Formats: sequence, structure tokens, C-alpha cells
Amino acid sequence: MATTYPSPWHAHALQRLASGPAEPLTPPARMEWTPHRAHGPGAELLGTELRGRRVLELGCGPGHNAAHLAHRTGARVTGIDLVGLQVRRARSHYGHVAGLSFTAAHALHYLQADQGPFDVIYSVFGAIGLVAPELLLPATVGCLAGLGLLVFAVPHPRRHGRSPGPGTYPHRDFLALPDRSRLPLVRWELAPSAWARHLRRAGFTHVTSQAIGNPGKGRWPTTLLITAYKL
Ligand SMILES: C[S@@+](CC[C@H](N)C(=O)[O-])C[C@H]1O[C@@H](n2cnc3c(N)ncnc32)[C@H](O)[C@@H]1O
Repeated sequence: MATTYPSPWHAHALQRLASGPAEPLTPPARMEWTPHRAHGPGAELLGTELRGRRVLELGCGPGHNAAHLAHRTGARVTGIDLVGLQVRRARSHYGHVAGLSFTAAHALHYLQADQGPFDVIYSVFGAIGLVAPELLLPATVGCLAGLGLLVFAVPHPRRHGRSPGPGTYPHRDFLALPDRSRLPLVRWELAPSAWARHLRRAGFTHVTSQAIGNPGKGRWPTTLLITAYKL
């Protein structure tokens, strides 16, 4: 009989935790926006003075970036994740870091419950791109303070060399699990111009995007990084 999981992300967290208990960690020295360690921009994308600012991560996973921000910049950081097991893992790693908290929640439900305002909201291969943008982006703008900033990284839609279609429908993709099996999921694979349209419609302005690749490897960009403001 096939095993079923509430979500592929739950299966992912279960396998990660099975490989050993999550131990307390020192927060990383750098924030990572891409899968390529120490490549591309860092926390400076979120602003130069974050001390005391309220920052929210949507889909924080084990919490490495959230821990970096709270520890290194003095921001008050909340990381949320759909999967309770991930939140448990994040708390085991970084529960000792001041100014940092983790909550289990679906990003859309958390934002719609009006938990803000936040000065900065970000997502690194997290909930943005995995939830319908026409729902998630208006909820995000609603939780940002005036002049608030949204930054998110998603897998680049051209990472396999194909152009993203013109539509805004989600695509089938797979999540690779630690045991090398794959589970299906849906992902919004949008061109930068389509993200910009969604963001402007939701009430964001000053939308910019950049494509980042794997240094020295591969022809195609791997990461699409987008920045937008609520003015
Ligand atoms: C690829 S991991 C990225 C984790 C983290 N941002 C990082 O860079 O290490 C994606 C995370 O998003 C979470 N996630 C997926 N859908 C979500 C949703 N609707 N709301 C909140 N978190 C979600 C998953 O549980 C998973 O932990």
C-alpha cells in the first residue's frame, strides 16, 4: 500500500528528521537566496538597517536565513512554515537565538489572520511560488507596513532551458526527497513580467527582478529574485 502524506513537504521534513535529531546550531554567517552557497546577494537586499524591524519569512524550513537575520542584524524575525515538523526542527536548531520565533501555519492563512504589520516579508524557495499569487500577494501587501518591502526567490522558470508559458496557471513539478524519490507538487512558474503584473495588481510598486545562475556551471539561470515595495 502506498504511503500518503498531508503534503510533499511533510514527507521531506519526516525524512530529514529521520536522519538524526536536529541539534542547536550557530546561525549562518550569510543569508542565502540561491541553492549555490555564498553566491549572489545576501541580507543587504532586505535593507541596511534592520535592527528592531519586524521581518517575516514565508516557508522558513529549518530556519537558517531567519536565524542569520535575527542574530546578525538585530531584526525581530518570525519564520512560518506549513509543516509542524519543520518548525520543530527550526526551533531545535535556533530556539536559543534572541528576537526569533517560529510558527506552524499556511502562509495564506497566517497573512489573512492579519498578524502584521511587518516591515519586511521574504521567501526563499518558500511559500511564494507554491501558493496562487492572486491570493498570496494581496494578503502579503495587506500585512506590510507603509514603505514595506517584499523580496522573494523562486526557481527560475527557464532553469531547464524552456521559456515559461504566457499563462499564470501552476505547473506540475516534483520535490526531490532526501532518499532520492520524488513527490509531485504544483508550482507557479511565471516569467518576471508576469510576476510584475501580479505584484502591481496586488498593490506593489518599484518591482525589480534579477536572474542568478550556478557559477561556472550550466547555461541557464537557476534563481529568479524579485523585489517590490508597498508605497
Ligand atoms: C524548499 S523549502 C525552503 C526552506 C527555506 N526557505 C530555505 O531556504 O531553506 C520550502 C519550504 O516551504 C514550506 N511551505 C510550502 N508551502 C507552504 C505554505 N503554503 N505556507 C508556508 N510554508 C510553506 C515547506 O514546508 C518547506 O519547508
